[in-house]
Amino acid sequence: MSGSNTEIPAFYTSGSNRLPIEGGCVKQTHAIFPKPSGLGNKEDNRHMQRHSMHDDVERVLITQEQIQLRVQELGAQIADDYADGAPHMITILKGSIPFIADLMRAADCPLSLDVMAVASYAGHQSSGEVRVTKDLDESIEGRHVLVVEDIIDTGLTLAYVMRILANRAPASIRIATFLDKPSRRKTQIKADYVGFTIPDAFAIGYGLDWNQRYRNLPYIGALKREIYEPT
Ligand code: PRP
Repeated sequence: MSGSNTEIPAFYTSGSNRLPIEGGCVKQTHAIFPKPSGLGNKEDNRHMQRHSMHDDVERVLITQEQIQLRVQELGAQIADDYADGAPHMITILKGSIPFIADLMRAADCPLSLDVMAVASYAGHQSSGEVRVTKDLDESIEGRHVLVVEDIIDTGLTLAYVMRILANRAPASIRIATFLDKPSRRKTQIKADYVGFTIPDAFAIGYGLDWNQRYRNLPYIGALKREIYEPT
């Protein structure tokens, strides 16, 4: 819409929450929602009183600021490491969407992107059953593949994906994961790039979900137990 004036919508906060973070307390200032246009005061109040997803977080594991810093570091490292050959980034939907979006912009080098989708979980327990629900668009033969994941938990998903990809004759293949939870590993698999190693908490946010929710949380939090194990 070149030449037209774009009106930037008004924003207001839902109020600030204090959430416990490991080693202290972080003030959450991210609960900012776009104000729907055309609402009067009564509707505004109702909008502000709605349940916040931050209320379901037991504690913050990794703040938004820590995420931004670490992803910049990883991007710089990848750009250095792939100076001699553009990485072909393959990301596994859907949890990795925020990570790949940030990581590819943090990597100042030529790169290409493809996506794959697999089904690996029933509820929040790893079933060990993994099937490809969307395959790659392009051949990876002779390319320098970098598989980008949001989390390695049991490792079963990635082990399966790596077997498929290795059979397609890439020039090289490496793994970048935003989170690593080595305490839950059921198979031998190790990432070349790791954002953060986390304890065995039910992690949500920055793409990670519970029942498809909380992916839009801008930090990594531990989900309250009563949410996923109601009494
Ligand atoms: C999650 C995550 C990894 C996998 C890790 O995917 O994105 O792919 O689980 O678990 P594992 O190491 O125990 O195999 P999920 O199947 O939940 O799909 P999603 O990415 O759409 O959330």
